[in-house]
Parts: sequence; C-alpha cells; structure tokens
Amino acid sequence: MKRRQGISPSNINGMFRCSTVIRTITFTITLAVLAVVTYSCVDRSESKPRMTENNTRKYAPIVEELLAKMTLEEKAGQLNFYVGDLFNTGPTVRTSESDKFDEKIKNGTMTGLFNVHGAEYTARLQKIAVEESRLGIPLVFGADVIHGFKTVFPIPLGTAASWDMALIEEAERVAARESTAAGITFNFAPMVDIARDSRWGRMAEGAGEDPYLGSEVAKARVRGFQGDDLTDEATMAACVKHFAAYGAAEGGRDYNTVDMSERLLRQTYLVPYKAAVEAGAATVMTSFNELNGEPVTGSKWLIDDILRNEWGFEGMVVSDWQSITEMVAHGNVADNAEAAAMALKAGVDMDMMGDAYLDHIPDMVRNGKIDEAYLDQAVRNVLQLKYDLGLFDDPYKYSKEAREKEEIRSEEHLAVAREAARKSIVLLKNEDKVLPLTGNEKTIAVIGPLADNQSDMNGTWSFFGEAQHPVTFLQGIKERAGEGTNVIFAKGCNLYDNKTDGFAEALQAARKADVVILAVGESAVMNGEAGSRANIGLPGIQQQLVNKVMEAGKPTVAMVMSGRGMAISELHEQVPAIMAVWALGSEAGHGAADVLFGDYNPAGKLPVTFPRHVGQAPIYYNYKHTGRPYEGDYSEPLSERVYKSKYRDVENSPLYAFGHGLSYTTFEYSPVTLSDDVMEGDNTLTASVEVTNTGDHDGEEVIQLYIRDLVGSVTRPVKELKAFRKEMIKKGETKTFTFEISEEDLAFYRHDMSWGAEPGEFKVFIGSASDNVQEASFSLKKSEI
Ligand code: NOJ
Repeated sequence: MKRRQGISPSNINGMFRCSTVIRTITFTITLAVLAVVTYSCVDRSESKPRMTENNTRKYAPIVEELLAKMTLEEKAGQLNFYVGDLFNTGPTVRTSESDKFDEKIKNGTMTGLFNVHGAEYTARLQKIAVEESRLGIPLVFGADVIHGFKTVFPIPLGTAASWDMALIEEAERVAARESTAAGITFNFAPMVDIARDSRWGRMAEGAGEDPYLGSEVAKARVRGFQGDDLTDEATMAACVKHFAAYGAAEGGRDYNTVDMSERLLRQTYLVPYKAAVEAGAATVMTSFNELNGEPVTGSKWLIDDILRNEWGFEGMVVSDWQSITEMVAHGNVADNAEAAAMALKAGVDMDMMGDAYLDHIPDMVRNGKIDEAYLDQAVRNVLQLKYDLGLFDDPYKYSKEAREKEEIRSEEHLAVAREAARKSIVLLKNEDKVLPLTGNEKTIAVIGPLADNQSDMNGTWSFFGEAQHPVTFLQGIKERAGEGTNVIFAKGCNLYDNKTDGFAEALQAARKADVVILAVGESAVMNGEAGSRANIGLPGIQQQLVNKVMEAGKPTVAMVMSGRGMAISELHEQVPAIMAVWALGSEAGHGAADVLFGDYNPAGKLPVTFPRHVGQAPIYYNYKHTGRPYEGDYSEPLSERVYKSKYRDVENSPLYAFGHGLSYTTFEYSPVTLSDDVMEGDNTLTASVEVTNTGDHDGEEVIQLYIRDLVGSVTRPVKELKAFRKEMIKKGETKTFTFEISEEDLAFYRHDMSWGAEPGEFKVFIGSASDNVQEASFSLKKSEI
C-alpha cells in the first residue's frame, strides 16, 4: 500500500472541482506528482539495501567478524547453493560431481548442498568445510522434506484435508526429527501457494484453495519443523515457498505467467505466506513465475518492500532452482550478470543452482556496478541462518549416526503416519451405507492399478521415502479382514496405457466378491512439480475398467488417489461409495483399512473443490457473484437463464464443494444464534450452533464458519472461511459451538486499498461444508471509515 500513498481517486476528484485556470495548473501539478510517484514505484534508485540502513536485527558477532575477513569470492561463495549428487530435483543433471564438491567446499565457493542426506555423508562434507576451507564456515544442508522423510506422510493436500492442526504439527515434527538426524537442517517447506485450478499439479504440495485454512496449516507446519528452538538438534529451518502467487499460473500450467490485481494478491494469495512469516519461518523461497510482468525473483516490490519492510521478515531469502538466471528467458534482463544484480538488489540472499552470484557479483562490485553493501547484507543473512541453527557451535550436531538409526522409521513415527493417513481420507459419497464394511464379508475383491502398488503410495516429492516401504491397500485390507475373508486381487489395467487384457480377470474377481474395492487415480508423478494435467479425470483407461467392473453389479467402493481436485463425474454416477485418498504415504494400506472397516470414522473435509468438469477450472468456493449470477441447476425455462453467467453444458456448481466430507454418522445443525444482531465499536459478536450426532457411530466433525459482506466498496466473495473447529461428538450427543466474530474478521482491502471493515449487512454461515450451512445476519455500525 506504500506505493499508493499520496494519490487516491478522491484526491484527484477534489482537485478537478476548481476553476478552469486553477484546474489547468492543478492538472500540470498532478502530472508532475504522478511522474514522481511512478518513478519511485519503479524504484531505480541505487540506494543501499534497506536492511543495512533500517535493520533492527542484531547479527551474531561471529557474523560480522567473518564478514570482515571474507574476500569478494568467499562472500559470493556463501550465497551459492548446489544440489548434491544423490538425486536431482530440477533440470540440470550432474554426474559424479562429488570430487568437484570437495574442491568447491575447500575453496569456499559453496554455502551448502541440498538433497544430500545421511549422517555419515553430511559429516564427511562438513569436515572439509570446517577443517579445510580458509575460514572454516560450516555448510548448511537443505532438502525438500515435503511430507515426511523416510516415514512418509500423506501428501500435504491430504494432511490439509484432516483440518487437524495438532496432527499436522506432529507429522512435521517427526519429519524434522528424521531428517535432522540425517544431517538436513534447512527444509524447503512448507509450500503454501493458494491453488484454485486443479490442472496445476503442485496443488498436491499445498493446503488447497483457501487463505484461512492455508494460513492455519502453514503455521502448524512451521511450528512442527522449527519447534521453539532452532538450535535443537531435532528442529530445522522452515522455508516458506513459493513467494509469491506461484499457484495462480495461467491455465494451470506449471511455471506459467501470473497476472492479477494487487487486491486479489493481497486479499487471497499473500495471506498464507504472511501467516508463515508471522509464525517465525526462518527462510523464504522466491517463485519461478512472473507476476504482472516482473519475474518474482527480481521483484524489489515483493521481496524488499512487502516481505521485508511491510511484514518485517528478517530471515534469509533463497531463490528457486535457477530462478535468478531464468530471468533471462523471462526477458526482463539481457544476461546472467544483469539477473544476478537484479535479484541481489531485490533481496534474494541465496542463489540456488544459478551460479549467477558467484560468477558475476564479485566483478560487478569491483567494477562499481553494484554496491558491496548488497552483497554483505545477503552474506549476513546466510551466516546468521547458520548461526541460528547452531552450526558454528557444533557443525556436526545434525549428523549423528546413532540418532539416525534410532529415529528413522521408528514405531512411534509410523504410528503418526497411520494416524495421518486415516485422518486425511475424505469420504465423498456413501450411498446405501456401503461403508463401513462389516468385517463379515466372505470375499472382497480389491481391484485396480493402485491396489497393490507400493511406490506410488509415497506420492510426489518423496525422494527419501523408499519404494519397498509403504503398506499397499491390498496388504492393509488383507491384514484387517483376517482369516475368514477371502481377499482377491486383480490389477485390471496399468495406470496410463490402453491395454485391456486385465479387464476380464477384474470382472471375474468382482463377480466372486461380496464387495468390490477399486483403487484408481493418479500415480505419484502425475501431480507435483511439472505435474500439470489438461485432463483431470482418471488417467489412461481406468474409467473403462470401472465400467467393466460395475457390470458385476456388486456394492462397490472407489478409492481415488490424486494430488488435486479430480473431475470424476462419471465415477460419481456409477459408484455408491467414493473416498478421496490422495497419496497416503508409508501407512497407506493401514490407514485406508482403518476407514474401510470403520475402525476409524472418517472426518476429512476437502481443502479444494472437485469440479464436475475440467472446463470449470479455476473453480473455488469463495467466488464473486457477478452481475448475472446463476446458481440454478438448469431446471428453469431457458428464457430465465439464458443471459446468466454459466456454461451451456455443465452446471456451475462443483461435484464436491470445498469443506465437503461425510462421516459414518450424521450430524444435525441447529439454526445459528447470534449474541446480537449489531456489531458496534470494539464489540465482538458470538455465533453459536448446536450440533447433534444423530447417527449410530461416534464421530469427529469439522464445524466451519463462513462470512459474507453483502455490499462493499468493492465486490466481495459469496462466502469466506473465517474459523473452524474439529471435535469428537459421541452418538446421541449434542454440543454447542461458539465462535467469536470481531471487526477484523470483516476486514478486506477496500476501494482505496486500505485494510478495514465497512459498515453494513453481513451474513454468517455455519455448517459442515461450504455448500451445507445454516445462516444468520447482523450488521456492522461504524461512526467513520
Ligand atoms: C524447484 C521447486 O520449485 C522447489 O519447490 C524445490 O524446493 C527446488 N526445486 C529444490 O528441489
């Protein structure tokens, strides 16, 4: 908002009420003011980095001592971050580079490595840095520990579906314990990008479409990774990514252009990054995308003005993989040298895989093309991170073989993974109470390309998880079903190809069974980075397999694996029971069996909308009404709906809405009661609802509260999630849930981009899903805005 100060539409209108002469003079002055404002927005100044002048942060004495001793090359080396030689997570493939790493470490031209792991291996590299480099600065080891290390948890979109913040925090604590024992201290997570378009594969790595839920999840993950003491040997630095708006890629195609208003950016997309920063995240990663014509990695406005100045972030900023040098391809700089200067001045401290700082910054400083203060500031931020992690005190503290053996895949950790697996499952549909299974079935047919598939259970971003570890659905079901039940398996088809040779066997298996369990959906590589899809239904010929199996006419359950909201309308029409199972990780089979047999009553809720058809993307619950809203189901006469905002062939409503998720029991909500129908001054209101478990199972429910501002100085979404609570309600029990609503919950970026609430009418909705709510109304009275 800083950029807008001094010029507002109302100021300009006021000026134009003057006489013609004055008007002309005023106009000229206005133009001059505008020119100055525009110039300062572009910020071509050569000033020193903001952090040098305004920084209140106290750096550790060792940071300044080292800085004073460092050559320009050593300084640039401290900003230079490489992938290791164990596996690759980006486009540059390195072969047998270990010896070169040794040299680089000795020369001080590398600050650390990422995607390396193992106590012994990381200790060996650390020894070179500490004992053989001139200044003995320890390395930092990074990695993408996105949903667990060797104990693999459900993909992040899955754990977000649990709406269980304590569980998410615990899972990340386990991830931190395991990976720090293997030497990793800097985790490239949480990924908090808002994703409204299911074509975008990286939706799998985040918490879905909502800024409020996304912020709660972001905070829980940061707490889990970092605990409250970064020097603890079992905690690691979190890295909030990908700053900013990476999830809004045009057409859902990964790495694609993002163009959006500052209002949408601030109101929706920036919210979870800010929440994670406020939760104390030690580092931030810039994103690959351009935003409104400016690649983010070179954006002083985003990194220096918003992140550091407005939000007060004092930690370390790392680029994404070559996102500095990729600015050349974006086309806003001519070469890597210009890219390096732009990123460094914008506030990117560490260059991941670009070599741009190392290759260009020392010479640019010598030639007077960039002020050394920028380089020094970045080095300070990197060294301070190493200090905060305790690496100067004990560089080997994270590389302890004994702890590694003890921690990795411990029983206790696998128990958390099982809990996370069952809590991530969302029961989308359960007609005729097909679920839970009784346990008395004589024959269960488990069918599909994902039914007895281990490696895909680990999901996207699980380079550390081993293919031979996960419990498959078939194994989990067999174990739980016990001796008296015959569990038969037929793969039916492969994940992608068109071979139908397995169909006959699958149909035969279904015919023999009392109940059929289909495991279908996406493999691990069909979502995640570079995992965008233009078709978001079941891949390959899996839908045809479903058609074939349904010929048996047996009670059928579909377990749909995915890293996105899937367009599965056809499946929905055919199959009575459907569960969204994401990719459930190490304990997939156990978690799924717990839910199938009713040992755990599912309570997951969708963190992302499931569309009816891919053509609806982007689709999200907190949309705007438009001037010609259409919420019907096409039953009205054509004349009533023809000029409405809709498709001719597919309803506007989703297949499964945000927040949707069934239980084996039923919950009845009372009407919403408000403590008052007017909010005034600093008063808060309370909104209460009674929820009764009217079914025959105990069960947890996620009670969701949404608000709508009916008239605003800018248009407002039809509803926005503002609070939720997850609680166990025993069968027959009624519980009262009371939420406090304050003026801050009604605030938004108003017409003049100031933040605050406006007086007027509001609706509050409470319910079990964004499309299943009770509502009440109140008004906000304010003396001034
Ligand atoms: C690129 C990805 O965008 C980012 O999320 C990841 O952390 C880095 N590669 C390192 O693997």
